[in-house]
Amino acid sequence: MQLQMQTWAEVERYLETSTIAIMPIGSTEQHGPNGLIGTDALSAEAIALAVGEATDIMVAPTIAVGMAQHHMAFKGSMTLRPATMIQVIGDYVDSLAHHGFDRFYFINGHGGNSATIEAAFQEIYTAHTLGSHGGNEPSVRCRLRNWWQGPKMGALIKEFFGDKDGMHATISEVSVLQHLFPEHIKSVPDMGPPEPFRSRWSDAADYRAKFPDGRIGSHPYLATPEAGKQVFDMAVAEIAEEVAAYAKD
Ligand code: NI
Repeated sequence: MQLQMQTWAEVERYLETSTIAIMPIGSTEQHGPNGLIGTDALSAEAIALAVGEATDIMVAPTIAVGMAQHHMAFKGSMTLRPATMIQVIGDYVDSLAHHGFDRFYFINGHGGNSATIEAAFQEIYTAHTLGSHGGNEPSVRCRLRNWWQGPKMGALIKEFFGDKDGMHATISEVSVLQHLFPEHIKSVPDMGPPEPFRSRWSDAADYRAKFPDGRIGSHPYLATPEAGKQVFDMAVAEIAEEVAAYAKD
């Protein structure tokens, strides 16, 4: 159930029996030699829509640009400042809370977003606690779920890709995009093994110096749409179960 495909009257009827929304959130950033710049936003959105379909839960519009300052030395990457992103998340939640939604399940496609999303949740809760909403608004609850991190998903990724999946521009996410958008599969450039991981990065120039082709520890030339379908289906099944429990929690 996609919010953008409803009428206002349909949303009003939904709220008579349910007050939970799924919030897809991703990033627009380089994904190595053969990964799409939209990978994190498009994967989160597709998984969110399929979970929404399976659970009859409303899916809000995707927050498609996230916290990606460290990718900015690669063309096409975009970022929000953390402070901006906290405000964007707050305004998305407040808009829907204004209509009566009170539970927000964020399906995230980008690990670099996590700290900022959690900070945004604390800003939202603090506004309620300190009464800066006037103290008369119902409480809201927010939860963050990175789609690649469930226990079953971890086992599947291990089984399929061993230790070759990596940390960024992973085989699993590139495969998911190949499954979702086969018309945009890129021919595989000769990329060889990834740079060895020496230390964490700081700003964009530091990231590019450490990871010159954009990936971290991954072998995304091994991506296939067939593996992507299985990863995608596992994410949807595992998250649908969790979100259904969260709706009743
Ligand atoms: Ni990604």
